[in-house]
Amino acid sequence: MARHVSVLPAEVIELLDPRPGQVFVDGTLGAGGHARLIAERVGPTGRVIALDHDPAMIVLAGQNLAGLPVTAHHAGFDQLREVLDSLQIAEVDGVLADLGICSDQLDDPARGFTFQNDGPLDMRLDPTRGVPASRLVATLPERELADLIYRFGEERHSRRIARRIVERRERAPITTTAELADLVRSCVPRGRERIDPATRTFQAMRIAVNEELTALDMFLKLLPACIKLGGRAAVISFHSLEDRAVKQAFRDRAVWRPLTKKPVTAGEDETRDNPRARSAKLRVAERIAGGDP
Ligand SMILES: C[S@@+](CC[C@H](N)C(=O)[O-])C[C@H]1O[C@@H](n2cnc3c(N)ncnc32)[C@H](O)[C@@H]1O
Repeated sequence: MARHVSVLPAEVIELLDPRPGQVFVDGTLGAGGHARLIAERVGPTGRVIALDHDPAMIVLAGQNLAGLPVTAHHAGFDQLREVLDSLQIAEVDGVLADLGICSDQLDDPARGFTFQNDGPLDMRLDPTRGVPASRLVATLPERELADLIYRFGEERHSRRIARRIVERRERAPITTTAELADLVRSCVPRGRERIDPATRTFQAMRIAVNEELTALDMFLKLLPACIKLGGRAAVISFHSLEDRAVKQAFRDRAVWRPLTKKPVTAGEDETRDNPRARSAKLRVAERIAGGDP
């Protein structure tokens, strides 16, 4: 059973407005919550093409989607064009991307995303490729470590953390989530905010390991050529770096008509039941022109 609870479900469906017979892409299948809602709307004559980097999520979502018109592909959303070409589909009626990771991935200590429980310092969304966070921590020069923690974690103490990582790795490698979290806590003051001082460094490492912002930029660039005129794109982001990129892309009035002037956020009822929804920001736009590859 999946533990992940989809964010902003009613808002996504209202703004994407899937109709019977239409073809949609869910670029981040996850536990399949949004894909299920879209599939129920497009019905048996429609289709949902779902992508996920993580083979484990494809298996998990499969259990949630039996009997629905959803086909899952092990691919990054930056490979959307290749997936559509392989299915001989030129354009679809709408695309959703719900960025980041699922609760099921976060809660599994073996994946290395969380510092709540100790586990290997991995953080790869797709464990079949790329390099784990432990390798970045072991090999990047101090300056590069500091830059990535500053840029992707918006962490003011990035230089101090990078220096401590380098000092520590000269004695012994940092291979677990608890080791990295303790190291960050030992050199970053807790401050007045309630969040754990390791949160920003973990966010930065995850973004770097999975090249998340590069993938998002590529996806936003290829979207117009994959969506029909009048079709819609919806992106849910969880931190300011992602939201900034989405806002910027949808600002291109030669291609998009924004359907959300400000990002849509979760109401009190939803955030009470699903704390993850607190930082979710949904932006939706309709393709009105452009789209030449
Ligand atoms: C927040 S979850 C999606 C949850 C889903 N909307 C639901 O309702 O269950 C994000 C999912 O996207 C996947 N993912 C993240 N970045 C990706 C990328 N660049 N390409 C494909 N999948 C990605 C993650 O593996 C994760 O399963």
